[in-house]
Amino acid sequence: MGILSGLYSSSVGKKILMGTTGLFLCIYLVVHLAGNLLLFKNDNGESFNAYAELLPSLTIIRIIEIVLFAIFAGHIVLGTIFWTSNRKKRPKKYEVNKQSENSSIFSRTMFLTGSIVFIFLVVHMRQFWGPSRFATGEVSMYHLVKTAFANPLYAMFYIIAMALLAFHLRHGFQSALQTFGVSNQKYALMVKVLGIIFWLVIPAGFAAMPLFFLLNS
Ligand code: HEM
Repeated sequence: MGILSGLYSSSVGKKILMGTTGLFLCIYLVVHLAGNLLLFKNDNGESFNAYAELLPSLTIIRIIEIVLFAIFAGHIVLGTIFWTSNRKKRPKKYEVNKQSENSSIFSRTMFLTGSIVFIFLVVHMRQFWGPSRFATGEVSMYHLVKTAFANPLYAMFYIIAMALLAFHLRHGFQSALQTFGVSNQKYALMVKVLGIIFWLVIPAGFAAMPLFFLLNS
């Protein structure tokens, strides 16, 4: 039996896969945010366009992209399996059910927030990733981003999606670290600081982009 199918067949293994894929996606978010910060450079999009043109031209980026999509797909499928099996295990209505006392709103809404972030991703890929990879002729990605976010509806959709991403990461990041045993007293401060970076600073950094273009349109 391969390592992956071995992990998949036990519930602890599924949690490990869920945590590993989630942490990889967190790393991707850091890299993606760092690149996108070029949008704020006051050079009429020159640096951002150079960066966005460089990405599809590199074979290594194409390979990383395939791995990234596989990790996204794995995380989504596992999340759905987790959610459905937890639903089946949930106590019936007539039994004492005090979920709110045992778990936070963040953990109880993981499937909902994850699903909305997934819808966001579909819209996002169609809007930005598609043209950046498949458009024929010259495309200014900076112009594409700027005009997309000048639309208040589109900008609001992004900002709300980032708030839900924050909700998702608020529980997800800590839960993944817990799965790997990084939650004891010794690491408490580090986990707290990293947690805040992932659930607050990163989504806020992404949300600042639509807000910036909306206010400057
Ligand atoms: C509001 C902030 C965001 C902006 C302006 C933005 C912009 C872009 C652009 C221009 C691309 C195509 C070029 C490239 O590959 O870098 C892209 C790709 C992508 N974005 Fe975003 N993005 C934002 C937030 C996010 C968030 C929050 C996620 C994940 C939850 C995400 C996930 C992706 C993925 C998976 C791709 C395709 C993979 C890749 O090739 O990099 N993006 N984004």
